[in-house]
Amino acid sequence: MTPMSLIRGDRVRLGVVGAGNIAAMNVAGYLDHDCCDVVAVCDPVEDRARAAAAAWGATAVHTDLAALLADDSLDAVEILTPTHLHHDHVLAALAAGKHVSVQKPIANTVEEARAMGAAADRAGLVLRVSECFRHYPPIEKAKALMAEGAIGKLSNIRIRTIVGQTDSAFQANLTADGYVWRLNALSPRGHLFDDMVHKYAMALWLAGQDIVSVQAIVRRRDLFFEPCAAIFEYEDPALLGSMEVSYAPKMWLRSRYYGADEFIEIQGDEGFLQVTRATGELLDHPPLVLYRGDETGPTTVGFTGLDADWATGFRRSSAHFVDALLEGTPAAMTADESVKVLQLCFAVYEAGNTSRPVDPRTITGSVTPTGWANW
Ligand SMILES: NC(=O)c1ccc[n+]([C@@H]2O[C@H](COP(=O)([O-])OP(=O)(O)OC[C@H]3O[C@@H](n4cnc5c(N)ncnc54)[C@H](O)[C@@H]3O)[C@@H](O)[C@H]2O)c1
Repeated sequence: MTPMSLIRGDRVRLGVVGAGNIAAMNVAGYLDHDCCDVVAVCDPVEDRARAAAAAWGATAVHTDLAALLADDSLDAVEILTPTHLHHDHVLAALAAGKHVSVQKPIANTVEEARAMGAAADRAGLVLRVSECFRHYPPIEKAKALMAEGAIGKLSNIRIRTIVGQTDSAFQANLTADGYVWRLNALSPRGHLFDDMVHKYAMALWLAGQDIVSVQAIVRRRDLFFEPCAAIFEYEDPALLGSMEVSYAPKMWLRSRYYGADEFIEIQGDEGFLQVTRATGELLDHPPLVLYRGDETGPTTVGFTGLDADWATGFRRSSAHFVDALLEGTPAAMTADESVKVLQLCFAVYEAGNTSRPVDPRTITGSVTPTGWANW
């Protein structure tokens, strides 16, 4: 046990709450970690809980969250339940004295998210939101290069998401009930809330400063997809950002996971960084490219050796939580950061609804895009 450890022993004893579609991706990093034991699983669908526990070597199987939380030997929980349940589940876990990692989006409303952070502070426990994009090696490397000054002073961040089709085994094996709560009134909806929170998190984390104004056009397409073009003004007026989501339902793209891919372009006054993939593998480019140019000529570096498997971001995010508990180091993303991500998300919906610029810092509650039936 290190002197700064936040747990009693020298291994993290973890309970997993929710064994649905995304659980295996998250739990892989806990199973891989030398100092973590996945000891308990809870899901109200008993067969699902049993199958997951068997796959992960967990000895305790529960269908009731209170029963899992009553286990005093657990140090921490990973909450992988539908987003509308995060608030209640996180508060229950904190009240039971567990450190908490919860999936994105942190909650359905800004107030719930703030209450979760405040409860963790009061309890002196860790609450972090697992943000897999932040631990995806090409994006992490881009951030490190920016910190080293590789592109000079930051002037523009452009984040682009393409939604297409895939025949990946991952997509084919998703259970449909995992989509019901995303599409009905249990969610602020739709895709910009559910998935784009990753990209909002990147827009804030890569810049290292707040966004103070958002303008956006949000459209509605099949299922819950929402083509979008949004522009961001940051605190520093010299820094601008944009986010686009395009929808290509007849375009199959290479992906081992969902039928989507992402591109991030980061412009500085001395150079340019391009992350050329994330969820998918649409292009045969190096996953990260650095371009620098000065009076002596251009230099282009393709970082071909990076691990660009999207699943690696999940594994590393889980490992990061365990390391934070063992070493007493900060665990990303914090509740405060996650509140800002949520406000940015709702600011895009609000700007789309009103055709007016919106300051994300003024957002409270939640915002639903127009055009969604209330069922
Ligand atoms: N990081 C990512 O890229 C990523 C991807 C997908 C989903 N997610 C997030 O993960 C969470 C789960 O998403 P999903 O797609 O796996 O959903 P899902 O509906 O497939 O899984 C949720 C699971 O939680 C279980 N559950 C419901 N109530 C419960 C309770 N009281 N106690 C324990 N378990 C309970 C359900 O039975 C189900 O098995 C969501 O917040 C979602 O936004 C993140």
